Amino acid sequence: MSEKIFIFDTTLRDGEQVPGCKLNTKEKLDLALHIEALGVDIIEAGFPISSPGDFDSVTQISKAIKTATVCGLSRAVQKDIEVAGEALKYAKRPRIHTGIGTSDYHIKSKFNSNREDILARAIQCVKWARNFTDDVEFYAEDAGRTDNEYLARVVEAVIKAGATVVNIPDTTGYCLPYQYGEKIAYLINNVSNVDKAILSCHCHNDLGLATANSIAGIMSGARQIECTMNGLGERAGNTALEEVVMIIQQHKHMGFHTDIHAKQLYGLSREVSDVMRMPVQPNKAIVGANAFSHSSGIHQDGFLKDATTYEIINPEEVGAGESRIVLTARSGRSALAHRFQKIGYAFNRNDIDVLYEQFVKVADQKKEVEENDLHQLARAYNPALATK
Ligand code: KIV
Ligand code: ZN
Repeated sequence: MSEKIFIFDTTLRDGEQVPGCKLNTKEKLDLALHIEALGVDIIEAGFPISSPGDFDSVTQISKAIKTATVCGLSRAVQKDIEVAGEALKYAKRPRIHTGIGTSDYHIKSKFNSNREDILARAIQCVKWARNFTDDVEFYAEDAGRTDNEYLARVVEAVIKAGATVVNIPDTTGYCLPYQYGEKIAYLINNVSNVDKAILSCHCHNDLGLATANSIAGIMSGARQIECTMNGLGERAGNTALEEVVMIIQQHKHMGFHTDIHAKQLYGLSREVSDVMRMPVQPNKAIVGANAFSHSSGIHQDGFLKDATTYEIINPEEVGAGESRIVLTARSGRSALAHRFQKIGYAFNRNDIDVLYEQFVKVADQKKEVEENDLHQLARAYNPALATK
């Protein structure tokens, strides 16, 4: 039996913090419904105290979501927590996500405080949140740079105060995968009541390690991953939902599963990109335009003989349609024959040899040889094909 990894989607909170990605209530609500349909376990709907618009969005999402847990963010401030509780009051499964910075950077520079005071505030905010819901998640902001011994004290204390999930954010994307994995393992081994809560990974991508760190986290005992569609989030972004889900699916030997309906990943990625007006980079894993495109002759030849030579995921598994054979000056004869065949020409090997000479001349002039170019090449080769 594999163990379930809970998927906590924060596209509408951490993702929406990205400059230019701000959404109105209707846009957030539509996306929330599609995120729920994807199969996520928890939807972080927003930060209710941050603005009346976000309060309204969290309220509307709370009313509309049927099965997923709806979560609202707050600082370790009583008013924040009360407002989050109010915005979540219609949710079938409400969760308050509250917390405070625990690294010395945050304790000294942000709060001008000390470890004992921060520990007391951590306990207090969980107690306030428990007045509104039994499902309270505590975040130890900048846990990635927090001293493990102190972090373990904080985690133990907030679980004792009633936290059901404890988020260990690598807020600045600083950790290496082995360090983040060791941090989670340290907490599992040194927090006496850790079995009473779920540890959660919330990794930022400043060094491009967010996904690797989240996977290291679950391998060490965390059971929730916080992530966003397309990896959107503060600065360099968060862990990409589509990446962790497909890693877990591809590497079943790790012994994990999620409840995500992977076939919806590509469509939702496009929707998030459109509504947030944030293009997906073409080489983005799983959902980029080139994720299932083959362009060099060596790869195309292998792929056409057996797709698994160059593809570890069938694009249909993530709803991305068919793989693409892109014709460029690096393409070979088998790719050219394949594309001609796809658009209805039955050329034999000799025909392709001759056509290939013409094809590379066109390809050298262009970045990509398109279907129209192929029709022109075919007509020039054999005018009897002019009706094509
Ligand atoms: O990155 C972070 O630490 C956060 C917290 C507010 C959970 O987003
Ligand atoms: Zn974050």
